[in-house]
Amino acid sequence: MKGRERMAKNCAVILAAGEGKRMKSQKPKALAEVLFMPMIDWVVGSARESKIEDICVVTGHLGSVLRGYLDEGIATVEQTQRLGTGHAVAQAKDFIQKFEGGNVLVLNGDAPFLDSKTISAALKQHISQHSSATVVTARIENPFGYGRIIRAQNGSLLKIVEQRDATPEEAAVCEVNSGAYWFNAVDLLQSLKKLEYAGQGKAEIYLTDVIEILLGMGRGAGAYISENPEVILGANDRAQLAELNAIARRNVLNRLMAQGVSIPFADGIVISPEVSVGADTVILPGTIIKGKTVIGSGCSIGPNTVLENCTVGDNVTINSSQCEAAEVSGGCSIGPFSRLRPGTKLKENVHIGNFVEVKNSDIGTGTSLSHLTYIGDSDIGSGVNIGCGCATANFDGNLKHRTRVGDNSFLGCDTCLVAPVSLGDNCYTAAGSVITQDVPDGALAVARERQTVKKNWAKDKKAYRNIK
Ligand code: UD1
Ligand code: CA
Repeated sequence: MKGRERMAKNCAVILAAGEGKRMKSQKPKALAEVLFMPMIDWVVGSARESKIEDICVVTGHLGSVLRGYLDEGIATVEQTQRLGTGHAVAQAKDFIQKFEGGNVLVLNGDAPFLDSKTISAALKQHISQHSSATVVTARIENPFGYGRIIRAQNGSLLKIVEQRDATPEEAAVCEVNSGAYWFNAVDLLQSLKKLEYAGQGKAEIYLTDVIEILLGMGRGAGAYISENPEVILGANDRAQLAELNAIARRNVLNRLMAQGVSIPFADGIVISPEVSVGADTVILPGTIIKGKTVIGSGCSIGPNTVLENCTVGDNVTINSSQCEAAEVSGGCSIGPFSRLRPGTKLKENVHIGNFVEVKNSDIGTGTSLSHLTYIGDSDIGSGVNIGCGCATANFDGNLKHRTRVGDNSFLGCDTCLVAPVSLGDNCYTAAGSVITQDVPDGALAVARERQTVKKNWAKDKKAYRNIK
């Protein structure tokens, strides 16, 4: 039996149909974010890390929004009426049936910290004790709102009692249900039938009641007490969501510091869990780093910087700037007060100064955009100096056009490059030029009105009247 159990495939069912009334949101609760990552992604991630390939999410309230969000590899079933967690799992019967002989992991879509370590340890216990059900529990200081784990005098599991049904003695129990369980698939299906039958006419069908049903059927049901009580925390409202954010934020910062990242003052620093940062990088206050951002070592990031889905090389400085979906190579310096928009690729040692915006452009090695510049849809060579106030006119009102500037060229202040236009290598433009035609290698382009000086003009002019 043991061998067969180990061979059979396991699956996971994630409950995410609930309305999340207490969130008072237009979004499905499972999409509420902890460290900028929807809770459902945390939960799916833990299931996948536990090597569970087959996952079914039970959707309901705003189900189409959630289904649209989930990737195609995830099965979904619809729970058209929110009749409770037991009813929700029952909607996934056809899915579960395919895993007869295996075990089913049930997870709550609103408990993001339940990690693969806990899931695997609970499965180990579940298998070794030949249990039909193993509920993951934790002992926490304030059990209010959670289902309480009721044990017999000898310590064996008896039942789970919800907050609203608990007697004062039961409510005093501090061991709570995480909402995560391992079930033997066949036994779960059988007990769900009984649960649904017994639940007819009731407002809610609790999955937690399956424990008593299984014990009544003579099956084994146990509890796995998680080592770290934090992993079971759930979010039913925005205050709990803020608590989860605070815990997750601290955990990420502690992990990064353990990996050699310097965070001397953590004020206002928020880093999402997928971000990786190299050793000896310093992160300064007010910095938010999101998405799949990868940062090298020896960098200085912040203060007051936002990075999202960026790749940053080693020894880069980014000060008071915002970058999204940009690639920044080693040795670059950015800011203060600049913005890199999606599709920006900076080669090594590029300098981006203050009030510069770059979008969808490749910038060559050692090129400098020091002040007040907009470069969009461009290919800029290496060793280029872009003077103060230069801009690409990349949009003609309908279409975006590209601009090219060759290596070692020099754009005078306030050059406007009207795209599509191409400048060769070693070119110069005169300050204030509006460049509408291509410029060959080595040329100077002057495209401005020649200055005229009218001698003694002021003397002949009527006196200037001060209107104040
Ligand atoms: C549930 C457990 C409780 C446990 C707690 C852990 C039950 C009856 N109670 O309580 O013992 O301590 O989780 O966080 O199971 N859902 C559906 N369909 C429904 C109802 C809920 O899919 O009809 C989903 C929700 O979207 C949510 C999950 O199931 O992701 C749990 O539901 P929720 O209403 O949050 O249960 P809790 O009151 O937190
Ligand atoms: Ca909940």
